[in-house]
Amino acid sequence: MSSEQYFPGLEGVIAGETAISTITGGLEYRGYGITDLAEQSTFPEVAYLLLHDDLPNEEQLADFKAILDESAEVDGAIIDLLRAIPLHVGAMDVLRTGISALGHFDPQVDENTTSANIAKTIRLLAQIPILIAARHRLRQGLSLVLPDPGLSFAANLLFLITGKAPTPVQERAMDVSLILYAEHEFNASTFTARVVTSTQSDLYSAIVAAVGALKGPLHGGANERVLEVLEEVASPGNAERWVRQALASKRKIMGFGHRVYKDGDPRAVILRNYCIELARKAGDDSLERIADTLERVVREEKRLPPNLDWPSARLYKYLGLEVDLYTPLFVASRVVGWAAHVIEQTENNRLIRPRSKYTGPATRAYVPLDERG
Ligand SMILES: CC(C)(COP(=O)(O)OP(=O)(O)OC[C@H]1O[C@@H](n2cnc3c(N)ncnc32)[C@H](O)[C@@H]1OP(=O)(O)O)[C@@H](O)C(=O)NCCC(=O)NCCS
Repeated sequence: MSSEQYFPGLEGVIAGETAISTITGGLEYRGYGITDLAEQSTFPEVAYLLLHDDLPNEEQLADFKAILDESAEVDGAIIDLLRAIPLHVGAMDVLRTGISALGHFDPQVDENTTSANIAKTIRLLAQIPILIAARHRLRQGLSLVLPDPGLSFAANLLFLITGKAPTPVQERAMDVSLILYAEHEFNASTFTARVVTSTQSDLYSAIVAAVGALKGPLHGGANERVLEVLEEVASPGNAERWVRQALASKRKIMGFGHRVYKDGDPRAVILRNYCIELARKAGDDSLERIADTLERVVREEKRLPPNLDWPSARLYKYLGLEVDLYTPLFVASRVVGWAAHVIEQTENNRLIRPRSKYTGPATRAYVPLDERG
């Protein structure tokens, strides 16, 4: 590449190599198609796959789950910290602080070997749900719920937040959303984690930086904005008028468009089916009808298909979750994808340091302070 070539937003630029996932020819995690994983696996199997390069056998999965269960504990000082943060502070900001604090209590914080990074990731996978749920319940004035090792990862996540064990359909819907959110090659937050790692910093620093990148509405923050859109539309009868007006006034409709999937996000198609099932169980299809109308009109007028955040917002709403938990739930899953990239970057590192195209003033003579007007 000539040093003069410039691609705004790095669009289309191959910025590194990865063996973790590809979107070329359909999304795959380490060679496994996303539809097969969503239909047949569970989130802990996918987490194991991303961290260990292959799917676990029964014994390996049981061991992985046992270590997750043993790690599902957070130091009381961190819970006190969550309690001390002012109530107006949003859940993603608190989660970023909480993950940073977890690093202070991790004896392996500065060990960057692959085995230490895997051990730290398993602790994060087990502890992030506790941080999310604890802050949520403290903010609501509810007592904290202890993890139940008898429950699956997805069921426990819902149980910690709501205090109720989910139904099998709710549990599977959450599990599939976690599988779909787990990994997506060089998206903005993963690239952020790799940049931090490339300086030989530590895993916690990379994950904290990635949380910051995920929060923005053009990335993970979109799933919360999608629910705001659905609430603003309010009723199926208002949907067509609302979306045509929004597009006419050049408003961006959250949950649509994607930097790399121009023909459609395969993950959105998979998750939509779970939304339909949950809506049917709830006996209220009004959100589905609003979503269908918006999808039809945005496709017609802008040729833009929905991305994963479009169905995930409805899915989490059907699961009875408060909107400010949606992007933190993305973190609970994506942390494993970020960590796989931290490990891969560490194992074959080269400092990530691109160049910029200068657009400032031409060279000029320095004027001493007392001669400046
Ligand atoms: C994801 C996103 C940032 C990708 O952006 P990108 O690759 O930089 O694409 P652009 O922003 O250049 O969009 C290309 C065109 O589509 C339009 N567009 C993109 N997303 C749109 C949306 N959600 N609603 C309406 N128009 C949209 C842009 O305005 C632009 O139109 P123009 O050519 O008339 O100016 C963008 O689609 C977006 O902001 N989507 C909403 C946020 C979202 O859902 N994020 C989650 C992503 S997984």
